[in-house]
Amino acid sequence: MDDVRVHEDVSTLLGDAASYFLTRLEAAQDAGRLPYVSLTGGSLVPLFHAEVVRRSHDSSVDFTRVEWWWGDERYVGLDDADRNDLDALTTLLAPLGVPAHRIHRVPGPDTSASVEEAAEAYAHEVRHSAGHEWEVVVLGMGPDGHVASLFPHHPATSVTDAIAVAVHDSPKPPPERVSLTFEAFERSRAVMYLVAGAEKAEALARAQTPGPVVDCPARAVRGQEETVWFVDSAAASSLA
Ligand code: 6PG
Repeated sequence: MDDVRVHEDVSTLLGDAASYFLTRLEAAQDAGRLPYVSLTGGSLVPLFHAEVVRRSHDSSVDFTRVEWWWGDERYVGLDDADRNDLDALTTLLAPLGVPAHRIHRVPGPDTSASVEEAAEAYAHEVRHSAGHEWEVVVLGMGPDGHVASLFPHHPATSVTDAIAVAVHDSPKPPPERVSLTFEAFERSRAVMYLVAGAEKAEALARAQTPGPVVDCPARAVRGQEETVWFVDSAAASSLA
């Protein structure tokens, strides 16, 4: 069952989320695992990264022994400010001293011939990484219930037998993206959602109610051990 944590504002939401994230990494390393983390994009994510860095000083996580990935990426140049990974690279991974070989960026148009090729190369890297299993998956959710770049009623959302998929005509700009699939997210120990704002209230209520995944992709990505929703009171306003 999902753990929905309603916070009175975004700042307490982020504090709780950052502390949960660090505790999961600590526990994984204490248990002898090399944690795989899947990051995402969205408006709360830069603030989340900053909060993780702030709290990292009180944590025992060895950040050089974590593998860093993205659940989805916008298919634009590797230096384009629209990339999901750029904020993480500068505000999270650089301050934490993460070495380059632990960072797994999705190829962009400057290093691949097409979105399909980028998705295939990224899937290949996931497939060939020892024991691919996400320790923690960080996700946002759109007002339409999308997660990563899996959008309601979009062809990419129905793809099976693949780890990553090329997305064209994304309803959220930019239009071309690469996303992990539902199947790739199945191997997740913990999934954490960061969701704030009244415009997300209806989608959050839908995500917490059984129904077709194609109407609300956020119904489908769950952790095998835990799924925690870090939400503010505005986003929680339509919950039963
Ligand atoms: C992206 C994402 C996307 C995002 C949600 C929530 O490319 O932007 O990865 O899935 O997490 O759209 O974004 P907001 O928090 O900005 O609404």
